[in-house]
Amino acid sequence: RGIAWVDGKITSMEEAKIPFLDRGYFFGDGVYEAVKVVEGKLFALEEHLERFERSMKEIRITPPKTKAEFTDIIMECLEKAGIPDAMVYLQVTRGIGPRMHAFLPQGEPMVTLFVAPMASLEESVRVAGVSCITVPDERWAHPHIKTLNLLPNVLAKQAAAEQGAFEAIFVLGTEPGGGLVTEASSSNIAAVIKGKVVTPPLNGRILPGVSRAIMLETARAARIEVEEREITLEEMRGAEEVILTSTGVEVLGVCELDGVTVGQGVSGPLTRRLYEVFMAGSV
Ligand code: PDD
Repeated sequence: RGIAWVDGKITSMEEAKIPFLDRGYFFGDGVYEAVKVVEGKLFALEEHLERFERSMKEIRITPPKTKAEFTDIIMECLEKAGIPDAMVYLQVTRGIGPRMHAFLPQGEPMVTLFVAPMASLEESVRVAGVSCITVPDERWAHPHIKTLNLLPNVLAKQAAAEQGAFEAIFVLGTEPGGGLVTEASSSNIAAVIKGKVVTPPLNGRILPGVSRAIMLETARAARIEVEEREITLEEMRGAEEVILTSTGVEVLGVCELDGVTVGQGVSGPLTRRLYEVFMAGSV
């Protein structure tokens, strides 16, 4: 199931074809977004499209379509796909050209999109929480751009999977306090430290997650104390609760870090509360 949209043409996922000379294929020269659809409704589309435009501009791709045009295409595909709980994946690459590192400024970007089923997490997982490992943050210096270059993220998530863990959390540097926690391979992180929800700041070393922003906004509205500041690995190891946020997991508790129990060893009470206000405030 699922449908693809490639440069104006809608097909099944299996039939979708992209040109061999697309720079996305050779260089990962492009950016993307993943938007969640819950019961047929797009979740925070405007925020995703804004970040999409910012990512394009950061890598000097002139947006080939306006946000309104992207929205129209997404709506058309959602209608055709007829999948109520889905993910919309949107991608823009620098388009077709000879395989040369430097690009021609007048090249034409390539837009691709797909809609595929994506179920929400099981309630039992939400209650139990998930385990995470930590890995060195060896990504490039601009992880705030949502680029197609995801090799460090892929290898980190694979390391987690091979250890039976759900996510890999990146740690930048080694001292003091064991380095700074940045984010996870495909989610942002937060921790409850001395009763307060703390999450690393938008300083260019993390993706400005849409879910992270909604969590902060809905938490503040619910008078839950939040703070954006750096978190050391040592602090995270001693935190009462550790939390992942992303389009896929929304707000999810972490029960174990590198094999050691976090807090009570289940998704914590503040995580639950954050999840509830997130869901109530964002749909
Ligand atoms: N990933 N950090 C990274 C590195 C991510 O790849 C993502 C999202 C996030 C969370 O961002 P948001 O709340 O806007 O989804 C943080 C998407 C889901 C993906 O790559 O599929």
